[in-house]
Amino acid sequence: MPAVLIANISPRSMGKTTDTGMMAHALHEIGYTVRAWDADESEHLSQWNEAAGGFPFPVEKNATATFATDVEPLRDGIDLVDVGHTENHPHLADSVLKIADLAIVHMEPSMADWQRVTMPRTSTPVADMVARSAYVRPDRKAPPVWVLLNRVRTGVRSAKDIRDMLRDAEWNVFTVMIPVLDDLKQATAFSVERAASGPFGELVTEMETKGLIKRG
Ligand SMILES: Nc1ncnc2c1ncn2[C@@H]1O[C@H](COP(=O)(O)OP(=O)(O)OP(=O)(O)O)[C@@H](O)[C@H]1O
Ligand SMILES: [Mg+2]
Repeated sequence: MPAVLIANISPRSMGKTTDTGMMAHALHEIGYTVRAWDADESEHLSQWNEAAGGFPFPVEKNATATFATDVEPLRDGIDLVDVGHTENHPHLADSVLKIADLAIVHMEPSMADWQRVTMPRTSTPVADMVARSAYVRPDRKAPPVWVLLNRVRTGVRSAKDIRDMLRDAEWNVFTVMIPVLDDLKQATAFSVERAASGPFGELVTEMETKGLIKRG
């Protein structure tokens, strides 16, 4: 199984921890070797792990600017990193992006999140953060970036509009979108069961189809 380190990023609180935890469970259920990283000072992912009585895969903490030198990625599995949001903690994203094989941007299909991702007035746009990582990476190439739309309300037209806007602006956007789910509103306080049987399982399939990850 080829190793992949995934940086889960967003400018602000936009669903990263929830998506990261659910993706990690879906990958684990499907048979991948998974390790989750809490690279956020708020430690939400670690709190969720504890509240759930321990996830069935390791959850480690490293919310430091030396993430890239501290962490030895798995050789035969997937490291999923929940990165503290880029507006307040750019040093964390910069460090994780140094060694990431893939960056996933998490956002809601709303104009507010579109603006946060593409045109923040007080911080570096996410695309520029990923692009600047090229200078500090061994191959001098930035990792690929994919957008995962989450908290999608059914029947709302804007989800498709925002996806089209992103694609027109040359973002890679997953076709699978994560709906608003009542369970997920309790991100740090519930046990995860059968993550792979819902949209997160479909996301794993899409990632495999796109060649972003590969089953062993
Ligand atoms: N699919 C979903 N359906 C319903 N609620 C959701 C969903 N995904 C996330 N949420 C809720 O949205 C809020 C933000 O999610 P989350 O904490 O995962 O974001 P975050 O990007 O990790 O934030 P932060 O940067 O502050 O750590 C939480 O209250 C969470 O429960
Ligand atoms: Mg979080």
